[in-house]
Amino acid sequence: MKKIVVLTGAGISAESGISTFRDSDGLWENHRVEDVANFDSWEKNPDLVRQFYNERRKQVLEVQPNEAHKQLTRLENDFDVTIITQNIDNLHERAGSKKIIHLHGEITKACSVSDANEIYDIQGYELKASDIDKNGQALRPFIVFFGEAVPMIEPAIKVCEQADILIIIGTSLVVYPASGLMHYCKKGCKKYLVDPKRPNADLSGITFVQEKASVGVKKVVEEILAKELE
Ligand code: APR
Repeated sequence: MKKIVVLTGAGISAESGISTFRDSDGLWENHRVEDVANFDSWEKNPDLVRQFYNERRKQVLEVQPNEAHKQLTRLENDFDVTIITQNIDNLHERAGSKKIIHLHGEITKACSVSDANEIYDIQGYELKASDIDKNGQALRPFIVFFGEAVPMIEPAIKVCEQADILIIIGTSLVVYPASGLMHYCKKGCKKYLVDPKRPNADLSGITFVQEKASVGVKKVVEEILAKELE
């Protein structure tokens, strides 16, 4: 079975109603997102950081997967598909995708500050200051903050090395290390990129589909199904 790797960013969830980072002014209640989403802020002002992610979580629980998330699941009958997502939402899961690597964490979960492998599902939308780990310490959102290591990059690199086809969707390709993943694909790996705006990156060897995800992903999925299964 051929292997397809899909790398997604905020753009795939835009049509579900979740705004992207760099298309907006990147502000949240006058805070720069980078200033809220880092470990220093968590240590200095955990209430602010909890509130920021509680609002993100509330929104994620209210929206639905869109056509692009759904189209990707069509590939799973005939291909070994792994989704690598920079998104912290759970829309790929809810659309029915089976193998998903979350590079930047998951909004529906919390973890212990002293052990990121001690992970808890958050009930409802709110992580509270009174939600604690085994040692009585307040749980933190299960999010890779700016400046932290990205532990899931290693498995992500491994799947990219094996990919026969790579589909990149809705990412500005400016955040490292996700932006470098495509360079791990072997020679001959067919690459597509779906985005309404041309990212400021070297797109040589990549078929650029300049469309919104809902339209572009359907085109790519249909091309792959037609070409590979003829
Ligand atoms: N369909 C597809 N792509 C879209 C759509 C759409 N409907 N609308 C916008 N886009 C594209 C934009 O053109 C842009 O290229 O989505 C991309 C969004 O880019 P960013 O906002 O930079 O999001 P992303 O690349 O996912 O950011 C990476 O940065 O802030 C951090 O941790 C956060 O995971 C995030 C990471």
